[in-house]
Amino acid sequence: MKIVIIYFLLAYVKVTICLRVVSITVPKYKQRGEPATLTCDYDLEGGRLYSVKWYRDNEEFYRYMPRLRPPQHAHRLDGVKVDLGKSSARHAHLRELTLRSRGLYRCEVSEEAPSFHSAQAEAFMEVYHFPRDSPSVTGHERRYEIDEPLDVNCSSARSFPAPDLHWHINGQKITERSWLVAYGAKPVPQGLLVSTLGLKAPAKPRMKLRCVATIGTHKRERTVLIDTNSASCNSRVGASLLILTCVNMIVRDKIS
Ligand SMILES: *[C@@H]1O[C@H](CO)[C@@H](O)[C@H](O)[C@H]1NC(C)=O
Repeated sequence: MKIVIIYFLLAYVKVTICLRVVSITVPKYKQRGEPATLTCDYDLEGGRLYSVKWYRDNEEFYRYMPRLRPPQHAHRLDGVKVDLGKSSARHAHLRELTLRSRGLYRCEVSEEAPSFHSAQAEAFMEVYHFPRDSPSVTGHERRYEIDEPLDVNCSSARSFPAPDLHWHINGQKITERSWLVAYGAKPVPQGLLVSTLGLKAPAKPRMKLRCVATIGTHKRERTVLIDTNSASCNSRVGASLLILTCVNMIVRDKIS
C-alpha cells in the first residue's frame, strides 16, 4: 500500500515539474487610458508549447498557438483591446485601458501531445481614474462668527475609486470626529464617483482650511480662507487709522 502511494506521489511530482507557469506579471494599478503589458512566464522543461491562453474574469481574450498561421488570435472584450503587434507567446499588450479593464487576469499554458499538460497563474489589475481637478469647497464664502460651527463641504472631482478626503486646519489634519460629516460617495456618469466631506469645526480668526483628496499616492487639494467677524474688526481698525491719517493730513494742510 505504502509503495503504491509513493509511486503515485512520484508520478504526480514528475507531472507538475514538466510544465510550470513561473509567474504572471500584471500591473497592480493602472490609469484609465494607459496601455498595459501583461507577462506570462513559463518553463516548458523540454516540452513543446501548444497554446498560451489569456482570460479576464474567465473570458478568453487572447491566445497564442505556435502551430497556427498566424499564431495569434484576439477576442475583443469590453475594456480589453489587444495590440497583436506588441503581443507574443509571453506577452499580451492591452491598449487604452478603461474602468472595465479591471479584473482577474489569468494565463493558461498547455503543452503539445502527448502530454497536454497545462498550468496557469492569475493576478488582479485595478484601473483608476484619478481626479483631473482639485476638490471643490463650498460654504467658505460667507462670514462666520467666532466659535460658530463652520458649514463647509469638500467634494472631490469625478474619479474612480472614490478618493479619501481629509480636512486640515492651519496645517493640522483634523481627526476630531464630531467636526467631520461624512456624506460618502455619490455615483456620477461613466462609472465615476464624487465623495463629499463636511467640516463643522468652530470658526476661529485667520483660519486656513485645506481639503486633500487622495487615491493611493495620488493627491489633489484645495485651500480656502475663512472670514470671521474679528477679521472685520481688524479691517475696521485699519479703516479708522486711514481716516485718522486723512484727518491728520487735512489738519496739517490747514496749518500750513
Ligand atoms: C454639504 O453637502 C450636503 C450633502 O450634499 C448638503 O446637504 C449641504 O447643503 C452642503 N452644504 C454646503 C455648505 O454646501
